[in-house]
Amino acid sequence: MKPSPIDTQTKLVGLLGQPLGHSFSPAMHNRAFEALGLNFCYLPIEVADENLETVTAGIARMNFAGYNITIPHKIRIMDCLDAIDPLAQAIGAVNTVIIQDGRSTGYNTDGIGFIQSLEITSGLTVKDRSVVILGSGGAARAIAMTLAHRGASRITVCNRTERKALALSLDVNRQGRDCCTAIPMLAGPMEAVLGDTDILVNTTSVGMHPQKELIPIKETMIHDHLVVCDIVYNPRRTQFLKVAQQKGCRIVEGLGMLVYQGAASFQLWTGQEAPISTMFDAIQP
Ligand code: ATR
Repeated sequence: MKPSPIDTQTKLVGLLGQPLGHSFSPAMHNRAFEALGLNFCYLPIEVADENLETVTAGIARMNFAGYNITIPHKIRIMDCLDAIDPLAQAIGAVNTVIIQDGRSTGYNTDGIGFIQSLEITSGLTVKDRSVVILGSGGAARAIAMTLAHRGASRITVCNRTERKALALSLDVNRQGRDCCTAIPMLAGPMEAVLGDTDILVNTTSVGMHPQKELIPIKETMIHDHLVVCDIVYNPRRTQFLKVAQQKGCRIVEGLGMLVYQGAASFQLWTGQEAPISTMFDAIQP
């Protein structure tokens, strides 16, 4: 379908962050709007920290349906909104805002995007599954909180800096559900947990371009009963996933999380189901 002409009826959406550098989001969303014939336009908008409040207040009074937020504003944006969805509140970060009647409401679609990608790619549902998460940064937090919300039976967080894993597990138990423990990134405790785990997720940056040969845990710890997921998407198939696949595991690439978190935002803004394959096509490297 031809893109809608930009006119007074066009609904704007955008990505707020700084520096934005290269982002897949404008191409992914604009192609999706075009595919469904929606008169929407997605813009990258660089916003300095000191201007976040002024810019978001202005956007709420313009023809914006909403926006995405990225580094470094995902936490501070929460002070600029009228309402926050309970899951985003528990995660402590917002990546999507919708604007209705001048009111801005914050959501977090990162964990939802991860789970949707995992469930659709692997055919496994997360309810009643045990999960090990490697890493304890922002992405691990969104994934752990959303897994707790969706009924995972046990979540184990494992991080190089152990106190961060412990802090995250306490937060999940307090604000999500009492299902999370932390372990140190050591062979003994990790082996003990992985033997009885369904899903293993790497949220660390290990294996990301240019250090493409690295994997976050020892190869011997990867067993064929695991569904192995990586949130790193450059390279698209990380060394961790290649090793897991060689061992017979089902694998889930990080690009899926990127697309499905975008699809969840798209649905919040437009009220329509996102055209997933168009979005994948738009961001093929
Ligand atoms: P994001 O928001 O994408 O999750 P982040 O908040 O910077 O990114 O988190 C990065 C994660 O990768 C952290 O858990 C970090 O571990 P530390 O808390 O110990 O720093 C983890 N990480 C980064 N480099 C690592 C490495 N070489 N080995 C193990 N973990 C690493």
